[in-house]
Amino acid sequence: MNLLFVLLCLSTIAVRNVRGKSKVRYFPDYFEFGASTASYQVEGAWDEDGKSLSIWDVAAHMSPSPIKDGSTGDVAADSYHLYKRDVEIMKELGLNFYRFSVSWSRILPSGFANQINQAGIDYYNNLINEMLANNIKPFLTIYHWDLPQSFQDLGGWANPMIVDWFVDYAKVLFENFGDRVKFWISINEPKQICTEGYGTDKKAPMVNMSGIADYMCNKNVLLAHAKTYRLYDEIYRKDQNGSVGISISCTWYEPASDSNDDQQAAEDARIFDWGQYVHAIFTKEGDFPERIKKNVAYKSAEQGYAKSRLPELSVAEVDLIRGSSDFFGLNSYTSKLVYRDASVEGMYAVPSYMDDLGVVMVPDPNWPQSHSSWLQEVPWGFYKLFKEIRNVYGNPTLYVTENGWSTDAGLIDDDRVRYYRNYLNALLDAIEEGSDIRGYTAWSMIDNFEWMQGYADKFGLYEVDFTSPERTRTPRKSAYIYKEIVRTKSLDPDYEPEILLDATKEN
Ligand code: NOJ
Repeated sequence: MNLLFVLLCLSTIAVRNVRGKSKVRYFPDYFEFGASTASYQVEGAWDEDGKSLSIWDVAAHMSPSPIKDGSTGDVAADSYHLYKRDVEIMKELGLNFYRFSVSWSRILPSGFANQINQAGIDYYNNLINEMLANNIKPFLTIYHWDLPQSFQDLGGWANPMIVDWFVDYAKVLFENFGDRVKFWISINEPKQICTEGYGTDKKAPMVNMSGIADYMCNKNVLLAHAKTYRLYDEIYRKDQNGSVGISISCTWYEPASDSNDDQQAAEDARIFDWGQYVHAIFTKEGDFPERIKKNVAYKSAEQGYAKSRLPELSVAEVDLIRGSSDFFGLNSYTSKLVYRDASVEGMYAVPSYMDDLGVVMVPDPNWPQSHSSWLQEVPWGFYKLFKEIRNVYGNPTLYVTENGWSTDAGLIDDDRVRYYRNYLNALLDAIEEGSDIRGYTAWSMIDNFEWMQGYADKFGLYEVDFTSPERTRTPRKSAYIYKEIVRTKSLDPDYEPEILLDATKEN
């Protein structure tokens, strides 16, 4: 009897151990973890210390307001004044790096590099030095959407002159911060800047000229990125020894059925949405993909335009852009199902990006829904994306520069925890199959101004109380879980943070 009992106990322990062991998954030693924010979304101090207006200051101050809750980024999370608290949070989370962006109009109030605002330089120096003093690497995004309004008045990203203005700005950053910053992102999300900011009114500067301004913008963004990369390569790399990449936002597009039409539709969606940038930078041929060139040329001719609405890249431009990245910065959140059938006819404005693409994209209603209408949890889509980047685009060295989930207010964010775990599991699957993924960045470290959604969609590992003058930051449950993932470089699905359990008991 006794012996049986002992044997039973031993076997239970053994099973537990095996299960326990097989459940915990480890990241490679070289893998690094970070979290991200962006200047307009967290800094506030919109008109302090010599900063001039950006296109987002202008948009948020329009009347009527285009922002869902009528809010602005005037104060946001007040990181301009609270940067030391932000660095404390980085420490609390145990981050290896922090991805933040610089506000162009804080550094160069006229937009041009002829006059540098020392107060702006001081702010970022303070932030960078505080991070380094705490052993956190700065991962600096040069441009995260807050274009100086003075340049928008001249056409912004649709004006080819922006390319050199951008490079002049980047040079100021390399000169001032390059001794300490070793990871650079030139531009965050070309697609969102151009297709949404110039093609629609969903993002500043709300130009809303789809099929024209968005394509003009794409070309200039790619050239600005490439010239910045070449500048770093030629002048700064030798002494500063850093890496320069670009963050491209990629959604996974899954065919809604096995039909050839839907397979083609999903491939077209991937090519139009992000493949065009990836193709231009990361493939041997470079240039915009043939599929886009053909589609837009065909539609343009049909619509009576003398030339394709898609600007061409010259041979020299193709060469400049091709290979212009030390790594692929991947921002990815979600997936969509795609189909193409007769209903597409007449569905979109003419001309427009969506009409050129000519597909329907919808989420599967069964996918878990976040607080943002566009964001559903589809971890296998994340996995398929890595696979595609590996197999179709030559397996570039990759950092996930953004990934995250939005909720309503509240500290117990179990769905965010589930999302992070599921997506990190998918990432580990991809690494095991050979994807060259070096790091992961959670979006976002703290709640912030979510563009047209204002403060309604909360992405933070830390909650920010936007009603308190102190903009108090409080860790959510996901912060404790992420901290443990970073500390152990592993994913343990059973880990429950003790501090939080105590806190919930008290409530
Ligand atoms: C992409 C953008 O880079 C970031 O600014 C935004 O807040 C997140 N995605 C979430 O929408």
